[in-house]
Amino acid sequence: MIARQSVEQVIDAAPIEEVVGQYLSLKKRGTNYIGLCPFHDEKTPSFNVNPARGIYKCFGCGKGGNSVQFVMELDQVSFVEAVRKLANRYGIDLIETGQPELEELQEEQKQRESLYAVLNFAAGWFEQQLHDSEAGRNIGLAYFRERGLEVSTMRHWKLGFAPDQWNAMLHAAEKASYNKEFLETASLVKKSESGKWFDMFRNRVIFPVYSVSGRVVAFGGRVMGKAEGQPKYINSAESPVYHKSDHLFGLFQAKTSVKKKDKVYLTEGYTDVITLFQAGIDNVVASSGTSLTDSQIRLIRRFTPNVTVLYDGDAAGIKASLRGIDLMLREDLNVRVVRFPDGEDPDSLCRKLGPVEFSAFLEVNEQNFILFKAKLLFDGAGNDPLLRADAIRDILQSLSLIRDSIKRTELVRQLADVSGQAADQLLYELNRLVRNVHKEDQKQANNTLELMAAQTATDLKTITFDDVHQEQGLLRLVIRHGQLQQTEDLKLWQMVAQELHQGGPQEFTDPTCARAFSHLNHLFAEGAPLDPNYFISGSDHELAAFAADALSRDYVLSDHWAKHEIAVITEESNVFHEFLGVFTHLRRKKLDLILHDILAKFEQMTPESPLEEEASLMDYYQYTQSLRNELVKQSGPVVTAYPDTRVVHKRI
Ligand code: UTP
Ligand code: MN
Repeated sequence: MIARQSVEQVIDAAPIEEVVGQYLSLKKRGTNYIGLCPFHDEKTPSFNVNPARGIYKCFGCGKGGNSVQFVMELDQVSFVEAVRKLANRYGIDLIETGQPELEELQEEQKQRESLYAVLNFAAGWFEQQLHDSEAGRNIGLAYFRERGLEVSTMRHWKLGFAPDQWNAMLHAAEKASYNKEFLETASLVKKSESGKWFDMFRNRVIFPVYSVSGRVVAFGGRVMGKAEGQPKYINSAESPVYHKSDHLFGLFQAKTSVKKKDKVYLTEGYTDVITLFQAGIDNVVASSGTSLTDSQIRLIRRFTPNVTVLYDGDAAGIKASLRGIDLMLREDLNVRVVRFPDGEDPDSLCRKLGPVEFSAFLEVNEQNFILFKAKLLFDGAGNDPLLRADAIRDILQSLSLIRDSIKRTELVRQLADVSGQAADQLLYELNRLVRNVHKEDQKQANNTLELMAAQTATDLKTITFDDVHQEQGLLRLVIRHGQLQQTEDLKLWQMVAQELHQGGPQEFTDPTCARAFSHLNHLFAEGAPLDPNYFISGSDHELAAFAADALSRDYVLSDHWAKHEIAVITEESNVFHEFLGVFTHLRRKKLDLILHDILAKFEQMTPESPLEEEASLMDYYQYTQSLRNELVKQSGPVVTAYPDTRVVHKRI
């Protein structure tokens, strides 16, 4: 088992925005971050990350938690695995106690772990074969070299070589005591009909496939020499850790750059990715020869909305993938296309032109997908008016998937130019299509909005009316900073007492707070000093425990107002500000009570009640209301210190 203090250390060390940011792209909103929720399908971001509290929360689907829970959810790993992962990334040595952790892992997770282990072993072994065996060097390494790859590139991608032997890999794995069963599940070995085991990958160069978080989950193997009767590439079959349709080759290596450049190049093949990467174009991934799936698109969108598709030259291939592009439009991606000369793919052209010219080629030839499609279809239709009409309808259909109406309208103009049709007429037709397409989406968006609004409402409620939090926050402030000199003749604790005194008699919800503040009031009234040790070592044990807790934890300010783009100041940086915030809140609460009372009195009035009484009540109400407005205007929102969840998390 991992010791609890280690777990807390990990949570403490792993900034939630960084952990989440590894997986999806976040935008800053005040002191928080927002992004598209990775746990459910959505078009408008309702996924919130709060760095101060170290937590995430989706207002759409309700998922939330800390960095460990995030990794558990997204990587589908156990608690222990998630902690280990983060510990690894942030260089924390975990302290182990008691039972071996495997006992607490469920059967399935044990299996996944074993699969990862086997896959990792295999990747290492293939790589070693490539660099250190004679056959590997003569065949595999020579092949990669001939394709223009440098050794450092091969190392970076952990490229490998599988020798032309029936079970070299199997023997090596067994020698290292890996279980055959897992090798089989990872589709590294197979059993023949006659009961003999043999290696899946033989006489092939090996491309390891990584998960987004950087684990080897599968392999692609390219045949050496002529592929007589066998496929050019063989790929690992699906396994508990590899679902082909959820992966994009190269995303793990590309993701940082994709986020930074806010753009991804989508290619078809392993070699396209690797060659471009070596040429300095490192925001590139591959769909590995299959048409794009929804989950791959969602994966892309976590990092950027801007996709440039790099296609081989042949038109048949392009037509086949038009559907995949429509899927991207529907997911609100900005799709651009670069068409390659006949017979060239990104890899071959990049080698032909060299990095500089190739980059220039991309830049010059990149075109908007709609215009690209229009040109393609018009070329195909020639002068046949019926075919041209079909083409236009087809393009409008694609256009209708774009949610941004400005973008859509602009594209219609361009389409009008290309097609020679009147823009008005195209727009009319388009709008008709749009209405159909978006009915469904709109419903979903509305639901999310409603949920967000409801959540904000509850947030407001709990923060505005949570007395215990306010009282405790104030007491904590006094315990931590009570002796700070705030004005020439008042320390913070005295200021608090003075303010409380001016507010009239107080009622505290929390008995510990009530005792502490009554003591402060007493001292203040007598002009006596406050013993700095009063809280922590006084005879009031509950107060002492509260004080110990308050002093030992880190506190951060409520993030609530950050959501409304209001700057929140940290406790250290402005104790006074916070003190004012708490009092503003207390006063406002008081004014709310008064207003409430006045309204109650109004209700009790009968037609017989004197008119003057009604008038004066009215005045009183208006006056109180104006005070309250003034208060809100002057001092802004309430700011309160809350425990820093990164440190606390006792539940774990
Ligand atoms: P390509 O045939 O374009 O291969 O297939 P390539 O990547 O350009 O490879 P080279 O240049 O001939 O060495 C594109 C992708 O389709 C998948 C692979 O992922 C490949 O990278 N593919 C292709 C397969 O999975 N199996 C195959 O038999 C062929
Ligand atoms: Mn190729």
